[in-house]
Amino acid sequence: MKTFPYKATVILALALLAASCGSTSAGGAARTDTRVALGPYVASVSPHGFRIAWETEDPVPTRLYWGTDASTPSLVGNAEPSTRHEALVAGLEPGTTYWYRLGQNADPRGAIPVSTRPDPVRSLRVAVVSDTHSTGGVHSRIVREIVAEKPDLLLHLGDLSLRRGKKEGGDEVDFFRVEGPLLRSLLIVPVLGNHDGGGPRFIDLFVRPRGAGEEAYSLFVEGPLALVTLDTNESLGASSVQWHWLEETLRSLQRDSGILFRVVAMHWGPYSSGSGHGSNIEARYSLVPLFERYGVDVVFSGHDHVYERSTVNGIRYVVTGGGGGGGRKPHDVLGDPLTQVSASTPHHGLLTIDGRTLSFTAKEASSGRLLDSVRIEKPAP
Ligand SMILES: [Fe+2]
Repeated sequence: MKTFPYKATVILALALLAASCGSTSAGGAARTDTRVALGPYVASVSPHGFRIAWETEDPVPTRLYWGTDASTPSLVGNAEPSTRHEALVAGLEPGTTYWYRLGQNADPRGAIPVSTRPDPVRSLRVAVVSDTHSTGGVHSRIVREIVAEKPDLLLHLGDLSLRRGKKEGGDEVDFFRVEGPLLRSLLIVPVLGNHDGGGPRFIDLFVRPRGAGEEAYSLFVEGPLALVTLDTNESLGASSVQWHWLEETLRSLQRDSGILFRVVAMHWGPYSSGSGHGSNIEARYSLVPLFERYGVDVVFSGHDHVYERSTVNGIRYVVTGGGGGGGRKPHDVLGDPLTQVSASTPHHGLLTIDGRTLSFTAKEASSGRLLDSVRIEKPAP
């Protein structure tokens, strides 16, 4: 039986779509040959679909091909030319790997795999990294190490360098280029840092596509894990909007019997003895009482480019800021009576939830040396 080659099928489909779209150049031909400026990245994923986002240098129609295998492409998109693109593929099977490919002609990248989430989620592996900042080799190496671990999710604790124009090492284009091998197939749950150009760009890129609202703090729930992300650029005081939102969110999670683990992620955390910044005292006095009252298990932060773990009233406070930033001015751990484990070296973490067990490991970049290991067991009901 003669089969029609996939490449020819796509070219034919593109030609047909281009003919039907309204975007035309000055010469009258449909415009499809712009460069991809940023992405693609997984903007949201669920058991029944995924949303891919990307940006192009010039306004063009949105086109995304997808399928269960490369020989049967389907097309989703929008004929309205834009530089910002989001394509939702819905009606899919849980726990299944699909592929997608951008429809911009000039993008030579091939089919990219992406998997829908299982339903229900009983186990979860979350890579944890922070303060990647620059385009340096350390950041690239850590990305390769995370790719090899095949996590389900990436938690980034801030200072991605979300801004346009290079300053202090890199910009948002560099971030998406270096993290591309992860972000093309894996959902990122990011935290807003102090080097991320303020809230609006962060919200456009990461919050709004997930339907999480208009603020740079949000709640992400995946099976037994509730992940609360906070914005430490905004006020955290007991009268602040964010404090009230956190209080209500943690209280509602306490009533949810499906949630086993409550994890808070923030850029500048309440317990750090790093030489760059130290502890966030406002967070310690206004947020820690909420963490203790509502049974938070782990609080992750970055900001200081070090690894440090402290345990206060049963809550693990983990600073994991060694994603590669700040190479010219390395931070150190000064130490504190609360400090249990520390290391001033590049690293990333892996949070694993399996049944009623949460475990976390931190590994040094390059060597793979184990820096720390944490295990929390929840008793059977
Ligand atoms: Fe920072």
